[in-house]
Amino acid sequence: MLREKFGNFEMNKEDRVLTREELLKNVKGRDAVLCLLTDKIDAEIFEAAGKQCKIFSNYAVGFNNIDVAEASKRGVMVTNTPGVLTDATSDLAIALMFACARRLVEADAFMRAGKFKGWGPMLLIGQDITGKTLGIIGAGRIGSSVATKMAKGFGMKILYNDMFKNEALEKETGARQVDIDTLLKESDFVSVHVNLTPETTHLIGEKQFGMMKPNCVFINTSRGSVVDEKALVNACKSNKIFGAGLDVYENEPALAPGLAELPNVCIPPHVASATFWTRTRMAEIAAQNLIDALSGKIPAFCVNKDQLKK
Ligand code: GLV
Ligand code: GLV
Repeated sequence: MLREKFGNFEMNKEDRVLTREELLKNVKGRDAVLCLLTDKIDAEIFEAAGKQCKIFSNYAVGFNNIDVAEASKRGVMVTNTPGVLTDATSDLAIALMFACARRLVEADAFMRAGKFKGWGPMLLIGQDITGKTLGIIGAGRIGSSVATKMAKGFGMKILYNDMFKNEALEKETGARQVDIDTLLKESDFVSVHVNLTPETTHLIGEKQFGMMKPNCVFINTSRGSVVDEKALVNACKSNKIFGAGLDVYENEPALAPGLAELPNVCIPPHVASATFWTRTRMAEIAAQNLIDALSGKIPAFCVNKDQLKK
C-alpha cells in the first residue's frame, strides 16, 4: 500500500524494538512515520524528524507512547487504529477471565508435570462465572464489548465505572453505573479498559485490591501502568484476591519481581490484538492514516485534530 504510493519508503526490517539511537536516526528527514506502541515519541524525536514531518501514525489504539500535546504544538498529526481491535481485545480479556477463574495455567502445568492421579472432589477448585457480577472500569468500545458478551453469553450482572453515562450499554445489558469503590467491593470479576493518562496511572493499587472480594479475578488488558504491579503481586501472593489475568505490564518487556512465580496469574505478552484479521486491519488503517495526511487531508483517526497548531 505504502510502497505503491510513495517512492522513498523505508521499513524497519528488524523483528525487535528499535533502540532510541536507531529511532532518532531513522525518523530524520521523514515526511511521515508509522510507529509502534513500543516507540517513545517525544519532543526529541519530533525535533530529529524535522519540521516537514506531518504525521506519526501509531500502529495501535492506545497512544500513550506519544507526547500528543507536543505533537499538536508542532502541528504534527497523531493517529491511531481504533475499532478493528475491539473484538480481539475483548475476546482476550474474556479468555483471561476464564483462565484465571478455572485455574487453567495451574491445571495445565499440573497435568504436564504428571501429577494427575485421578479425579478428585477438591482438585483444582475454581470460581463460577455464569451469573456472577462483572465490574468494568472504563466503558468505552472495548469495555462495553466485554460487558455485552459476558452479559448476553453468561448472564453476568454488569457494574461499570466511567466519566460518562453509557446509555446504550445500560439498555443492552442492564449495566449499572457506580463509583469505583462500589464496583471494587461488589464485583466478582474486575476488568480494566481505560486509557493510560496521568489520572489513570496506578488507578488500581494496594487500597483498591484491599476492597476487592477474596474470590475476585482481576483483569488488565489496557496499559500496565494503570496498575501498581507491586501491589498486584502482593494481592495475588497473599490470596487477597483469587487471581489476575494481565496482557500488559508496567515496564514491558520486564515483569514485576515475583509475578512469574505466582500460580494464580495468567500473563500473556501483550497480544490482545494479535489475530490475523485484526493485525492486518490495523496495518491498513495505520497506512491509510499516513496516506491521508500526506495527501493533505486530516485522517479519519487523527486524535489531535482539534488541538493541532496550523
Ligand atoms: C495495543 O495495546 C493497542 O493499543 O493497540
Ligand atoms: C478503546 O479503543 C476503547 O475505547 O475501549
